[in-house]
Amino acid sequence: MKGLILSGGRGSRLRPITYTLAKQLVPVANKPILFYGIEALAGSGITDIGIVVGDTKREIMEAVGDGGRFGVSVTYLEQEAPLGLAHAVLIAERYLGPDPFLMYLGDNLIREKLAGLVRRFAEEKPNAQILLTRVPNPQEFGVAELRDGKIVRLIEKPKVPPSNLALVGVYMFDRHVFDAVKAIKPSGRGELEITDAIQWLIDRGFTVRPHVIEGWWKDTGKLEDMLEANRIILDTIETRVDGELEAAELHGKVIVEAGAKIVRSVVRGPVIIGKGAVIENAYIGPFTAIGDQVVIRGSEVEHSIILEGSSITDVGGRIESSLVGKNVTINRSDSKPRSYNLMLGDRSHVRLI
Ligand code: DAU
Repeated sequence: MKGLILSGGRGSRLRPITYTLAKQLVPVANKPILFYGIEALAGSGITDIGIVVGDTKREIMEAVGDGGRFGVSVTYLEQEAPLGLAHAVLIAERYLGPDPFLMYLGDNLIREKLAGLVRRFAEEKPNAQILLTRVPNPQEFGVAELRDGKIVRLIEKPKVPPSNLALVGVYMFDRHVFDAVKAIKPSGRGELEITDAIQWLIDRGFTVRPHVIEGWWKDTGKLEDMLEANRIILDTIETRVDGELEAAELHGKVIVEAGAKIVRSVVRGPVIIGKGAVIENAYIGPFTAIGDQVVIRGSEVEHSIILEGSSITDVGGRIESSLVGKNVTINRSDSKPRSYNLMLGDRSHVRLI
C-alpha cells in the first residue's frame, strides 16, 4: 500500500509563525509535526510515500529529503493551489495508481498504531476506511453521523453538528475514490472536500468503514492545539542528559541534547532542551520545548514552544503558553525612558501584564 501525506495549504491560523515556516514543520517536542506522520506510515509498513506540497514545497523537501532517514522513499507531488483535500487526491492519481492507499493529513498527530488498520484494509478490501474520534467542538471538523455502526452522512464543518464524531486526518481508499473526486463540486469555501467525496461513495453503495479511535489525536492548526500536542508528546519522553549541567536542578523527565548547557537553573519536566541551547539563572517549567541554540537567561518559561535561535533575557514575569518563532529576541532594558520597544511581524500577538 502506498501513502499520501498532504503537506500543502497555507496554515493561516498559525500566523505569523507560518509566514516563514510551513505549518507541518512547526516542531512538537523539537520534531516537526510532519515527521511524526512519516514515522507513523513507516511504522505501519508503508514504504512509498507521496507528499503533496504547495507554496512551501522547498522547505518541506529540504526537511524531508528523499525519505531515506525514515526508511521510506518519498515522491513530491505539486499542487498548484490548496484547492482541497479531494483535489490533492486528484493530482496524486498517477502516482498512486490502481492500488489502495492511505492518506494522512500532514498537520495531524495520532497515537493509534496504523499497522492493524492497514492490514485489515488489505485483507477485507472495503472501498474506504475513515477514522473518527469524539471531540467537544465538532463544528470545526468533518463530522460523521452513524446509525447501527454504519455511516449515513458526513458533513464538513457543520454549524449544527449531528454528532460529536469528528473525522481524523487518516483515511484509506481503493481506486473508486478517483471517480468520487472527479464527480464532486467545490464546497462553499471553494475546496474539493474529501468529506463530499466519501459521501459520494456512500450514496452509491460503496463500503465505507468507520473506526472510532480511543487514543489521543490532534489537528495542530491552532496555537492551543500545538501546545496541547507538545504537552502530550513531552509526556512520553524519557530522561536523557547529553549536555552539560552546572549547579542545575532537574526534576521529572528532561532531555538535554548534546552541546546544551544548564547553569544555576531549575528545570521541571517534562521538558526538552535542544542542541547548543543555554539556560542560565532560569526556570523552565513543565511541557516546554526549547529549540536548538536558544538562550534563556534570568527568565522563567513554562508550557511553551521556543523555536531555534531565539533568546529570552531578564524578562520579569513568567512566559507561559506561548509559541515563539525562530531567532526572536525578548529582553528587558533598564534605559530611560521606560517603554515597551517592539518589532513584531504582521499578525503577531503580545499580551502584556
Ligand atoms: O484535521 C482533520 C480535519 O482535516 C477533518 O476533520 C476535516 O474533515 C478535513 O476537511 C480537514 O479539515 P481542515 O480544514 O483542518 O484541513 P486543512 O485545510 O488544515 O488541511 C489539512 C492538511 O492538508 C494540511 O496539512 C494542509 C494540507 N492541504 C490542505 C488543502 C486544503 C493540502 O495539502 N492541500 C490542500 O488543498
